[in-house]
Amino acid sequence: MLDNVKKKAEEIKEDIAAWRHHFHSHPELSYQETETAAKIASILRDMGYDDVKVGCKDRDICVIADLETGRPGRCIALRADIDALAVQEERDVPYRSQNDGVMHACGHDAHASMLLGAARILKDIEPELNGKVRLIFQHAEERGGGARELVEEGVLDGVDAVFGQHIWSPVPSGSMSYCYGPTMASADQFELRIQGKGGHGSMPHLSIDPVVAACSVVSAWQTIVSREVDPLDAAVISVGEIKSGSVFNAIPDSATIKGTTRTFDPAVRELLAKRMEETAVAICSGLRCQAEFEYKFMLPPTITDPEFTRFAVEVAKKILGEDKVVEARPTMGAEDFSYYLQERPGTFMFLGTGNEEKDMTYPQHHPKYCVDDDVLDLGAAMSASIAWSYLKEGE
Ligand code: NI
Repeated sequence: MLDNVKKKAEEIKEDIAAWRHHFHSHPELSYQETETAAKIASILRDMGYDDVKVGCKDRDICVIADLETGRPGRCIALRADIDALAVQEERDVPYRSQNDGVMHACGHDAHASMLLGAARILKDIEPELNGKVRLIFQHAEERGGGARELVEEGVLDGVDAVFGQHIWSPVPSGSMSYCYGPTMASADQFELRIQGKGGHGSMPHLSIDPVVAACSVVSAWQTIVSREVDPLDAAVISVGEIKSGSVFNAIPDSATIKGTTRTFDPAVRELLAKRMEETAVAICSGLRCQAEFEYKFMLPPTITDPEFTRFAVEVAKKILGEDKVVEARPTMGAEDFSYYLQERPGTFMFLGTGNEEKDMTYPQHHPKYCVDDDVLDLGAAMSASIAWSYLKEGE
């Protein structure tokens, strides 16, 4: 059957590429995916899907479609994200973005079209399926809120397992990578506001310098990673923004620091939040400043289910070839697929699209990022095969 699925995917390769080019030409930012969602819904209805729901929380920016065979069995959810980024495209492709300053620079155009390809294949083989497949075309992954909203709205009700994949330029075209367990990191935000007392740069003793306090805090935070986190656990504290002062010879009143943390372990995440605040408040107080610290828990880590991953790897080997499916190191990047994996077993895999000959090795989010159309049928075959195999296993 998997050979048949692969063949069917090859047959519709041009359609999948055409869908991707359409989405690529008409990219929409997170929470604005109305035209993308409408297009997806119309393609699904044309395929014969009659249970197609558009929208989440009264906004028509995502699509949930069910393939309900009417026969008892398992239910698997397949998820694609559909939003684009605020990036100006710098690559000259015939289907380049027509929406200035907005670009599908992370490959979500490919995700949407590959899942549509899988939808068509599954519709074709529906008589041979038992149970149900739920197709999730999710909004706002880039802002990290889409998956959480859908989970809150009950998108996983009745679902036994979830599968998602991401197009990935560091992996060669036609290969796939995966991790057992920790796969992508949590991504949180923090902000520290330091209040000092401004004055003339020549008379520091008459002021309270928030810049010195800010610098001390940034350095001290790095010792939380190096001295307080188990060296065998991964953790990152990165300050990406420091704002203070406006002239070279004055001591400013205040300073603001913003940044992000990454880790795979919920306990480490709690430790970072707690110790960053304690360190900042104590240092600022020692340096006579007032400190106000805010830590926002944003995306949880993406932790795949090892057993489901083993199952998915076996399927991937049949589609891509034994030597094309490789275990990878986790990445400190983040992905809101984590919300689904917190609720249900499943996995998240990376479909390679890196191709030097085609000049397609730019990293995700790069203005020249481009997806190799020749892998789209593999992605569609992969999703359809996972669904078929998972439902079959449950019979
Ligand atoms: Ni992405």
